[in-house]
Amino acid sequence: MKRVINSLSVNLYGHPEKQAIVFVHGFPYDHTMWMNQINALKEDYFCVAYDIRGLGESYVGDGQYTMEAYVMDLFSVIEGLNLKKPIVCGLSMGGYITLRALEISQDVFSAAILCDTRAEADGDKGKLGRAQKINQINVEGLRAFVESFVPTCFAEKSKEDLKELYNEIINRSSGNDPIGVKGALFAMLSRTSTKRFLKDISIPTLILVGEKDGLTPPNVMKKMAEKIKGAKFKVVPKAGHMSPIENPSFVNEAIKGFLKKKVK
Ligand code: MLT
Repeated sequence: MKRVINSLSVNLYGHPEKQAIVFVHGFPYDHTMWMNQINALKEDYFCVAYDIRGLGESYVGDGQYTMEAYVMDLFSVIEGLNLKKPIVCGLSMGGYITLRALEISQDVFSAAILCDTRAEADGDKGKLGRAQKINQINVEGLRAFVESFVPTCFAEKSKEDLKELYNEIINRSSGNDPIGVKGALFAMLSRTSTKRFLKDISIPTLILVGEKDGLTPPNVMKKMAEKIKGAKFKVVPKAGHMSPIENPSFVNEAIKGFLKKKVK
């Protein structure tokens, strides 16, 4: 079932009476990146997967986004559906949003799953890289940017093994509104660090990272996990930055095991 809440396209799977999991996707993707997890979890959980503002089928507006506006969107989905203590699961940019949401109000959630993400803000090199990407979209168009960026998110072997899906993801991402994609780049380059807050996270947390993730590598995520009290850390074999897509069976089992133990 699909609902529109606060101009966001929100997709619902499973029974609303069950424990909710809210999925927050990465950049420049949409909620469909979570379909393997949703299919594995929707019998036992109420799965909520929305498209982040500016991406997928959600409202684009003027593209003047911030991480904080994305967090308000996440809270608006939770309020709009009247979810009680949902679990939040974010990947990469979705993880930046999740970490800032926890910093603002972790009591809203019963547990957090952070996939292939980081707490640090962009350094100067990172910011300049974002500026180049915005320029590339302006000069060469969105498809050229997507075709150069998406390959950096997947392990080499996954690109071959998942060829059809991988090409579909490139096509789908190229179909986004360039204003929304550039807005996301601005929001990421202007975000501040959530590193100092990690020690204050007190809800159960699972951290997953693809063994071949070149964007948010295992050593970065391990350090993050060490700062969060009691966090469970798992490296996803045979996966790059898009671990839920590249090795769904491992990620699904890791999530199921974590939730069974940690969340009533
Ligand atoms: C993502 O997957 O959301 C992006 O790689 C995040 C980023 O570019 O920092």
